[in-house]
Amino acid sequence: MDSLIKDKLSRNFEYLRISVTDRCNFRCSYCMPSDIFNKDYRYISQDKILSYEEIIDTCSVLKKIGLKKIRITGGEPLLRKNIDKLIYKLKEEVMIDNISITTNGSLLTENKISLLKESGLDSITLSLDTLDENKISSINGTKKNISFTPILENIEKYFNQIKTNTVVIKGINDNEVIDFVNLLAKFHAEIRFIEYMDVGESNKWDLDKVVSSASLREKISKHYNLVPIQTDCSSTAKKWSIKNTKSSIGFISSITEPFCADCNRARLSVDGKLFTCLFASDGFDIKSLIRSDDYEKKLLDFFKDVWTERSDQYSQIRFISKKEVPKVEMSYIGG
Ligand code: GTP
Ligand code: 5AD
Ligand code: SF4
Ligand code: SF4
Repeated sequence: MDSLIKDKLSRNFEYLRISVTDRCNFRCSYCMPSDIFNKDYRYISQDKILSYEEIIDTCSVLKKIGLKKIRITGGEPLLRKNIDKLIYKLKEEVMIDNISITTNGSLLTENKISLLKESGLDSITLSLDTLDENKISSINGTKKNISFTPILENIEKYFNQIKTNTVVIKGINDNEVIDFVNLLAKFHAEIRFIEYMDVGESNKWDLDKVVSSASLREKISKHYNLVPIQTDCSSTAKKWSIKNTKSSIGFISSITEPFCADCNRARLSVDGKLFTCLFASDGFDIKSLIRSDDYEKKLLDFFKDVWTERSDQYSQIRFISKKEVPKVEMSYIGG
């Protein structure tokens, strides 16, 4: 392995989030509102999308300078065909230590979950914003009712643990927080509540709609005994175990308690751009590098330059420095 690299704030690079598609079969209002992501919306065209071989080549190079963990994202990553084959190669050939996926669960049949496990996937994070059948349509923009209990049972069956993501929005689903804990604490789960973030330009984000993690913790503590757990410093979530259960709660508090100081992650968009922050306006084109001769050395040198120049800390300075240039959309950069 080449020497590890640090950015301008002394942060290592270890973690790559790979967006494999910018499309999704849901239209969550906070991510892909249906008035903008409608039939006229222009998604990335097929010829611009990185192939699995190109993703694998990129990861093989980045492993030399510290890449240990990959999260497959989207859009909805399971819309991309044969995603298990990509995972298998990243695990078996590139030998990435930890590979996970964040999905809305709509395509997670038992067969699919079992195939993902066989391919070497380490964990599945399920996005789950409501348990109320009457609210599903208004929250995720689908007409179909999805039954989450079998999905949760199957994730636990094959992966031993479930990880969930709930973006809590005032007046929308904040009244369901205890219901989430009541349901999920029966499993072996890491129940994560996420503060609504100002990602992209489409979701009409409003600070008034953010529910702070501190207020949620107070609310949950009235029903459950929470005990703090030591958390890895680069984790997005601060965690508490729920006494007398196998489960824990994680709070992802990008608004009230930013975690930029230990941010060890880069992002690869579906069209092969490298982003050093979720809130960036543009990325660095590495698709043309990976499609050129002698790409290994070119990509290695380029990535080292980009990372050593990195000084992003958007969440830390969100309220003091106003960005003039538009931020990229969550569905494109992969969260
Ligand atoms: P692990 O650390 O692997 O457990 O997962 P994760 O929390 O990084 O990934 P996940 O896709 O489950 O995302 C959970 C929430 O954290 C989403 O709202 C992401 O957009 C957000 N998130 C992930 N990484 C970052 C980050 O580097 N900065 C900020 N501000 N938010 C992030
Ligand atoms: N704020 C916080 N989290 C968001 N996600 C999507 N959009 C936002 C937002 N504006 C979450 C999804 C998914 C994860 C990748 O990011 O719910 O679980
Ligand atoms: Fe799709 Fe996830 Fe965005 Fe919802 S949050 S629209 S499921 S990518
Ligand atoms: Fe990292 Fe940017 Fe998120 Fe801060 S805002 S934690 S720098 S991705």
